[in-house]
Amino acid sequence: MNKLYFGDNLEILRELDNERVHLICTDPPFNSGRDYNAFIGDSLAQKKAFTDTWTWDTAAQDTRADIEHRAYTSDTYKALDNCLKGYDLVLQNAVSGSKAAMRAYLAFMGPRLAEMHRVLAPTGSVYLHCDPTANHYLKGVMDALFGEENFRNEIVWGYKGPSSAKRWFPRKHDIILFYAKTVSAFFNPDGARVPYTRVTRTGGSSLARGSRTREEVKALEAAYTERGKLVEDYWVDIPGPGHMPKRERLGYPTQKPLALYERMIKASSNEGDIVLDPFCGCGTTIDAAHTLKRQWMGIDITILALDPMRQRLADRHGLQPSIDYQIEGYPTNMQEVRRLLKEGDKRKYHDFSNWAVTRLGLRPTKDVGDGGLDGVGHVTLWNPQQMKETNARILTKVKTGKPTITQVRAFCHVMDQHNAEVGIFITIEPVSAKMRQEAENMGSFEHNQKTYPRLQFWQIDDAYFNNPDSINTLVRLPDAWRIRPTQKSERHFENRQMQLLRA
Ligand SMILES: C[S@@+](CC[C@H](N)C(=O)[O-])C[C@H]1O[C@@H](n2cnc3c(N)ncnc32)[C@H](O)[C@@H]1O
Repeated sequence: MNKLYFGDNLEILRELDNERVHLICTDPPFNSGRDYNAFIGDSLAQKKAFTDTWTWDTAAQDTRADIEHRAYTSDTYKALDNCLKGYDLVLQNAVSGSKAAMRAYLAFMGPRLAEMHRVLAPTGSVYLHCDPTANHYLKGVMDALFGEENFRNEIVWGYKGPSSAKRWFPRKHDIILFYAKTVSAFFNPDGARVPYTRVTRTGGSSLARGSRTREEVKALEAAYTERGKLVEDYWVDIPGPGHMPKRERLGYPTQKPLALYERMIKASSNEGDIVLDPFCGCGTTIDAAHTLKRQWMGIDITILALDPMRQRLADRHGLQPSIDYQIEGYPTNMQEVRRLLKEGDKRKYHDFSNWAVTRLGLRPTKDVGDGGLDGVGHVTLWNPQQMKETNARILTKVKTGKPTITQVRAFCHVMDQHNAEVGIFITIEPVSAKMRQEAENMGSFEHNQKTYPRLQFWQIDDAYFNNPDSINTLVRLPDAWRIRPTQKSERHFENRQMQLLRA
């Protein structure tokens, strides 16, 4: 069952059976008006992981038309359509500015929430993470889809952190809307009890003395202390994004703390239940669900979430793709690569390019094909005679059609322009002898007393899919050379290693 899907969650949710899932915990874009970069460091590699800016464009209008169409045959979509039409009035049918952005955002969220409602089992619940930008609108949509009688909590997750607010109080909380599918939804608040910090006999706690004797209260205190305390609908004991434990941080934008999602899963599901996160990012819900012995399904549109998620499943749970869980939505053999590219879907092509670039450990550039390059990264070259290290830039270009000599020359030019020491030209089709000659003309670089060609070709083929770990031999790179992201901390780490070696 455990499965990760890469693609648009609307399409994937629509393929799931009715009432299949026991719990949904999800953290979609909030209509923050921001775009989130996946990586920091090299300005060439500021690839957007996902955008959270919304405009009333043809996509939003088409979605609304589709909702209206579905409303003829579906009560759920009818309720959604009515709700969004009401909001159109509130938002003055705006087609530009922040009101239009809200309309577009709700057009995006509406059908996804409708499908989440459909796939939930009658005993299931949903926790929808949002913030004060849109929570009031989303609550209306949720009331329309789930019924206001199934509203359970508006959980406030409060946290600390710096703020530059001048005209309002610092905004330091998120909202989690908790809805049940039906009155018989499973809920076990005992599963999410937390340790008492202090128990009193008067006021505030369930241990208020009332008419109890001192001894009775003492006995109760002992029992309650052991069980822990029920959590209320305001959660201030889980540190916010800026204070997440270091060991948890994966560098994925908007990553949430595990403790938050563990609490929801403990309270609203049993071991063995299926937990779904259709906006799973780097997999916080998935990690929490696995820890708590639930089955899980995660969906994310960006392939850039795949590597941090795969890494965390391997590091924390020893899980390997294809063995312990399935991944759908990115190629696992050449047949799938060719099929994907044949579809001619621009977004899928971009996904493929990003996927190929990240196989090398490089970071995708802002836009695919941006200035003649698709990926960038850095490595440390080591000259043992001179006891000297240099920080070298590596660039890559992905070419899915038949490569031409002109393209290879253009890439050589891009390498020179960006002072790149190493270039990797990725192809699906074979490269000609002339192209290889052109690459030889680019010369070589040295690392640890060995010489490597500066410009190399990587033709993706079944040899790679049969053994993805062989990448450093398929491309002639030094053994154990990990092309690394360019975060300052990593560079510092590498330098420290060198200093230690020299010492
Ligand atoms: C706020 S982040 C989730 C972060 C996550 N809770 C974590 O801890 O890593 C929202 C995620 O939704 C994904 N997303 C946005 N639109 C999507 C869509 N249509 N289908 C699937 N995923 C989508 C983004 O790529 C992003 O990773």
